[in-house]
Amino acid sequence: MPRKKKQEDSGQEKMSAEVPKLSKTPQLVKGMKDILPSDQAYWDYARKVAHDVAKFYGFDRLDTPVLEDLALYTHGVGKQTDIVEKEMFTFTDQGGSQLALRPEFTSAFVRAYIEHGMVNQPQPVKLYTLGPLFRHEKPQADRLRQHHQFNCEVLGEASSSVDAQLILMAQRFFKMMRLSTVLHINSIGCHGCRPNFKEALAEYYKNKKSQLCEDCKRRYGKNILRLLDCKSEECQPFKAEAPQTVDFLCEECRDHFMKLLDFVEEFEIPYQLDYTLVRGLDYYSRTVFEFYSPGEGDRMIALGGGGRYDSLSEILGGRPLPACGFGVGIERVLSRVKELEKADESVKQLFAEKSPDIFFAQLGDQAKRKSMVLYESLIDEGFSVAEGFCKDNLKAQLDLANKHGARFTLILGQKELLDGTIIIRNMEGGEQEVINIQKLIPTLHKKLEIG
Ligand code: HAM
Repeated sequence: MPRKKKQEDSGQEKMSAEVPKLSKTPQLVKGMKDILPSDQAYWDYARKVAHDVAKFYGFDRLDTPVLEDLALYTHGVGKQTDIVEKEMFTFTDQGGSQLALRPEFTSAFVRAYIEHGMVNQPQPVKLYTLGPLFRHEKPQADRLRQHHQFNCEVLGEASSSVDAQLILMAQRFFKMMRLSTVLHINSIGCHGCRPNFKEALAEYYKNKKSQLCEDCKRRYGKNILRLLDCKSEECQPFKAEAPQTVDFLCEECRDHFMKLLDFVEEFEIPYQLDYTLVRGLDYYSRTVFEFYSPGEGDRMIALGGGGRYDSLSEILGGRPLPACGFGVGIERVLSRVKELEKADESVKQLFAEKSPDIFFAQLGDQAKRKSMVLYESLIDEGFSVAEGFCKDNLKAQLDLANKHGARFTLILGQKELLDGTIIIRNMEGGEQEVINIQKLIPTLHKKLEIG
């Protein structure tokens, strides 16, 4: 025996000599987050709500790859957007292809619609997904470099009822997450009427340029709409007096917007017309919307946003395709939920970990082997179980059972193994009974049903 131990030890020594060691353990990449075991209940709940909401409204799941052709975003999202100008993770692969980590889902959904000939399916095509996105933003509490979205898109339908139903869907998601939100909504017109609005904006800002923030000075010549989106102090007074998109809408866009507002009124959703809302992605036309919720210090945080993008398919080389969608940021939603649960016990209950019904404790090598086999039958029977098979001490195992909050602990030692019995310990009162091991499964069923 001692010889064997020596062999194991020398094996380890050889390994450490072969593997070069780093002097410092690599750290989490800036702006990225681990989702720790203690957070998984929140994520599971949010994912489940997202899947349920998608099902309620007849959406099918589409998962697109994390890597896409860079051109999809430079053309789709737009060269003059923050995302494309400063936030994309891009690289050239070994074969010389220019690739990007996806910063959003919408462009990839349109690519997939075109590539898989979804035009041949009954229209509209309703698709959703859940997954990580990557934006090289300046990291802050609610701005991550990897965040996750629940994203829904309806492709192939121009009716304002689609925009309205997407708003209801997002609203239902927030409601099921116990969050109250305010919807901000606007119409930014189409390619026919928006140029008139942009011209009026350019005229309005012409003699104010020198007083604008540096970003807005730069955007003036490139993407004038984004001046309305600016959050800098010095630009706020000008925004308040700026021309409003709704005054420049063509008849079709006006009609679309009015119909949408009629729906929203009917739904009795708290909403605000927000004429400065233009959204930071270039593909939008007509409807744009965002859902806000007060965060710490009552700062309003956008939990989700979306809109119509009737020209995106053509921009990407496809046929005309009216479409609308939204994306909800899961991290922002969960950070609001965590603030809320501090004050509301019923919210806390949603994420309380469920304790196992049964904990399996054992004593002795032979009993341990038999216990591991029995444990498999308990899983097969559908019991929720936990174990401490790597521990040899009974007290340590009972402590673990208490920590897990198990209702019953099964104890199998050498004596029970010889007698063909097993001990069932009720963890609440501590009383124990010895039963024939053959009767274990029916006994447990009975106890857990009655309990
Ligand atoms: P977005 O407004 O860029 O829209 O993102 C949607 C939501 O994702 C935001 O409201 C926010 O909650 C969350 N989010 C965005 N960036 C970050 C970040 N850096 N860190 C944490 N959360 C973030 C879009 O992405 C559009 N593709 C939505 C859409 C779908 N439009 C039409 N269809």
